[in-house]
Amino acid sequence: METSVFSLRRRLVPGGLALLLAMLAGQAEAADGVSQASLSRGEYLARAADCAACHTPPDHEEDAFGGGYVIASPLGDIVSSNITPSEQFGIGGWSEAEFARAVREGVTPAGTHLYPAMPYDAYSGITDEDMRALYGYFMDGVAPIDRAPRRHTDLAFPFNQRWLMAAWNLLFTDDERFAVREGESHVLARGRYLVDNLAHCGTCHTPRNVFMAPEEDEYLAGAPLGGWYAPNITADETNGIGGWRDQELVDYLKNGHVTGKGVAAGPMAEAVENSFRFLDDDDLHAMADYLKSVPAVAGSTHTPPQEGGGDASGEPYAFQDDSADKTKRAVRQARRALPEVMADRSDFAGMTDGALLYESSCASCHQLNGAGTEDHYYPSLYHSSATAASSPNNLVMTVLKGIDRRGADGEIAMPAFGRDYSDEQVAAVVNFVADRFGNPALDVTAQRVATLRAGGDKPLLATLGGWLVAIPVVAVVVLLAMVRWRRRRRRTAALARR
Ligand code: HEC
Ligand code: HEC
Ligand code: HEC
Repeated sequence: METSVFSLRRRLVPGGLALLLAMLAGQAEAADGVSQASLSRGEYLARAADCAACHTPPDHEEDAFGGGYVIASPLGDIVSSNITPSEQFGIGGWSEAEFARAVREGVTPAGTHLYPAMPYDAYSGITDEDMRALYGYFMDGVAPIDRAPRRHTDLAFPFNQRWLMAAWNLLFTDDERFAVREGESHVLARGRYLVDNLAHCGTCHTPRNVFMAPEEDEYLAGAPLGGWYAPNITADETNGIGGWRDQELVDYLKNGHVTGKGVAAGPMAEAVENSFRFLDDDDLHAMADYLKSVPAVAGSTHTPPQEGGGDASGEPYAFQDDSADKTKRAVRQARRALPEVMADRSDFAGMTDGALLYESSCASCHQLNGAGTEDHYYPSLYHSSATAASSPNNLVMTVLKGIDRRGADGEIAMPAFGRDYSDEQVAAVVNFVADRFGNPALDVTAQRVATLRAGGDKPLLATLGGWLVAIPVVAVVVLLAMVRWRRRRRRTAALARR
């Protein structure tokens, strides 16, 4: 920090003037005061935009923004870059305009097109003023790391043809700055800027078409995400967050859990930990306000039913008093049916009875009756968007990966069972949990668990990838790009005529 503030002062106050200022202590302090304020503004923006999510390797805070984080995209592994001010390995030599172009348009000073794993389509809205503060922070508030990320991106043909991204950008992105709409309140505008641009919620929550571009008319309506599922967060009462109170949304973003609604695991837990827990309450409330105003989309069948879950009739899954007894009975029965060799062991290796697995692995925290502990520290499985959802993704992934999250109100963890449990065992315990406490219609096969474990379903574009289909895909992209370019030109011409 010492050196960074010093270098900023040097930049602001060139040459001999610095000497003069050093003598006029009061003024020197004023200069520092300004730079400090702008640095913390830049830091806040970097937090809100969650640059660290992808550019800081998890659990390596000492390597902040050093890159090397591998994003398992459906098209292959994409490795993030070093964005520290290192001259040789980072962005130290970049001007503000070059930095802004990379962040907003995904094009580096060398003319290299970035993959949209870097969410430049959302960041294109970042205002000039905020971009300046971000740039200042990355140049003067971040320590340089003089080494390249350990891996580099190496996608299969045709996806390694980065120039294809130029066509993709032309088709699917608008390079437009955020502006307050007519009649829009200050609060809604602030919420929209945070949700749409900085915090890029749509990157995870909006479904994508076959070209991996967001479906605009299903904005925030829910999307699969490497085995997880980012649920519908439009204002829809049943499938979205229409039934959440503003304060519940604020608490969820800040702490990562809301009793009776759900908890943030996986990528959402990371977003809470790296980004949302640092946001001001005013900003969080503005985001909640804006989310409530996003047009409700009923969404696909993957979305969770209302509070605490429920069946198609809308009846919530009610807590059952005899649930603990039922589970005990099922456990006793299963034990009797076990082969002798297995009954002797305490770890039940290879055993695939859901009730037994639940009793031995989950009940210590979530209780035999599934109601969790009274203080809600260990949550009820009756009131969780993971157990009640019509898609098993988040339930399966929570069991496989566990939870490890730091929110504004503390740290919380649930163990991961992915290493010890086979796909059959995960399927068994998930089906038991869903049947007893959540959505009984779920029927998870070991095959499904294996797919989710391996990062979820591949989109069409990835399954198509390869020599044979590359040529038509490229042809179609170029054709579409030309159509859009012509449409744009016509629109510009029409505007000019007016
Ligand atoms: C969701 C993940 C993600 C987030 C969030 C993200 N980035 Fe990136 N960024 C990437 C990836 C991945 C690359 C490399 C892409 C490639 O190689 O095509 C990248 C590349 C870049 C580059 C180009 C670096 C170079 O040397 O080519 C810059 C600059 C950059 N990011 C800045 C930022 C800033 C600033 C933020 C926050 C405002 C940010 N990124 C947030 C994933 C992300
Ligand atoms: C990196 C991907 C990612 C980003 C970015 C992201 N989310 Fe999420 N979100 C998820 C996933 C995955 C879940 C499901 C988590 C779970 O159930 O454990 C989720 C869950 C939620 C939920 C709970 C919904 C429910 O029905 O339980 C809300 C609300 C939410 N996100 C809001 C937001 C908002 C608002 C933003 C932007 C400020 C955002 N998310 C950004 C991935 C993301
Ligand atoms: C050591 C205690 C512990 C054990 C054992 C445990 N859990 Fe959890 N579980 C937790 C905690 C803590 C949370 C998260 C609470 C929070 O985020 O506020 C949680 C959350 C969950 C959720 C909600 C996830 C979401 O995304 O909404 C589900 C579902 C769940 N556990 C299922 C299970 C199952 C099934 C097992 C057994 C295979 C299990 N848990 C074992 C402590 C535990």
